[in-house]
Amino acid sequence: MARIVLGITGGIAAYKACELTRLLVRAGHDVLPLPTPGAERFVSAETFLALARKERTDDPYPHLARADVFVVAPLTANTLAKLALGLADNVLTEAALAHRGPFLAAPAMNTRMWEHPATQENVATLRSRGIEIIGPEAGELAEGEVGVGRMAEPAAIAARVEELLAAPAGSLAGRSILVTAGGTREPLDSVRFVGNRSSGRMGVALAAEAHRRGAVVTLLAANLAVAAPAGVNVVETPTAADLEREALARRDADVVLMAAAVADYRPAAEIAGKRPKSDVGWTVELEPTTDIARLLGEATSNRQILVAFGAEEGEAGLERKRAMLAGKNVDLVVYNDVSREDIGFDSGDNEVTLISKDGERLVPKASKASIAAAILDEVERLLAAP
Ligand SMILES: Cc1cc2nc3c(=O)[nH]c(=O)nc-3n(C[C@H](O)[C@H](O)[C@H](O)COP(=O)(O)O)c2cc1C
Repeated sequence: MARIVLGITGGIAAYKACELTRLLVRAGHDVLPLPTPGAERFVSAETFLALARKERTDDPYPHLARADVFVVAPLTANTLAKLALGLADNVLTEAALAHRGPFLAAPAMNTRMWEHPATQENVATLRSRGIEIIGPEAGELAEGEVGVGRMAEPAAIAARVEELLAAPAGSLAGRSILVTAGGTREPLDSVRFVGNRSSGRMGVALAAEAHRRGAVVTLLAANLAVAAPAGVNVVETPTAADLEREALARRDADVVLMAAAVADYRPAAEIAGKRPKSDVGWTVELEPTTDIARLLGEATSNRQILVAFGAEEGEAGLERKRAMLAGKNVDLVVYNDVSREDIGFDSGDNEVTLISKDGERLVPKASKASIAAAILDEVERLLAAP
């Protein structure tokens, strides 16, 4: 049984926190609900206390209650901003400041509020401090608009809480882990480039989870659209050549996770300065880049774990990834199908097939944090294998 503090803030989705409370209690946890006054406009504290099988406390310091995991669901734009600033003006924000350990937050708000630069900067601040953000998801919102802003489903939040509790914080202590993330950009001239849609979310989630499990993590960052997690070493690698150089320099890491979308081709010649606009067509010759996975596979020792990622389409893509296992001497291939719009590139979710010499396993659609946990569970299994 774990102790879970569940913060609830003042959005319509507060009603979904009832179901979350029920799921966490049913899983055997001791849940302390901390609704804000704003949340109580939607659902009374009594409801949460009854679901958590708790009585109103006369503890003079409820905000100092220790918790194995701190969850805020739903998280309003308002409380998000307060957490980013470190304000402590109600029992939830006080408790959040006093908490040490895993922290999971499920924002829920109107799309325009979510996309506002102020909110996005606050989200980046929380992420950079190691707070894990789950959702929000796209769909129909309470006010009738359609867009990103729905709270992640209670079952997904409860599942993520279990993962945070299951993987002991120190299970990768003493291990060095190299993660590549993002998409490389290959210059055409001084301002244009050939790039891809990778946001870096998957690699960043892996780096955050590896750090949480106690590993010493270096993140090779290729043009990330999201903030790198706190506590990891970040090396900027904007081009395939940068990434190759920096990865080779760290090839002795215990685990290498190659989540970055590295360009397969780059312009054969880079034009100095900016090519002026004209009516004449521009034919660009592309040349293949180095296959970094193959290079590392050749250099890897038996006790190292090399994980390659493959974004391809459909069954044919999966077949090509199966061939990678032996062909490039990698220990694990993580395949995701980029023909699907709901997962993968630039999405908060993913669904992957893990391919190792012991077989294949589908990890069903889940947040990238959950997928990262599943991948690292598999890495830990491979590290422990004789
Ligand atoms: C009907 C209604 C629905 C609201 N839903 C949300 C919401 O989903 N997300 C949000 O960030 N704010 C929402 N708000 C605004 C918050 O309730 C408001 O910012 C409040 O100050 C939040 O307080 P708290 O963060 O301390 O709980 C809503 C307000 C109303 C009146």
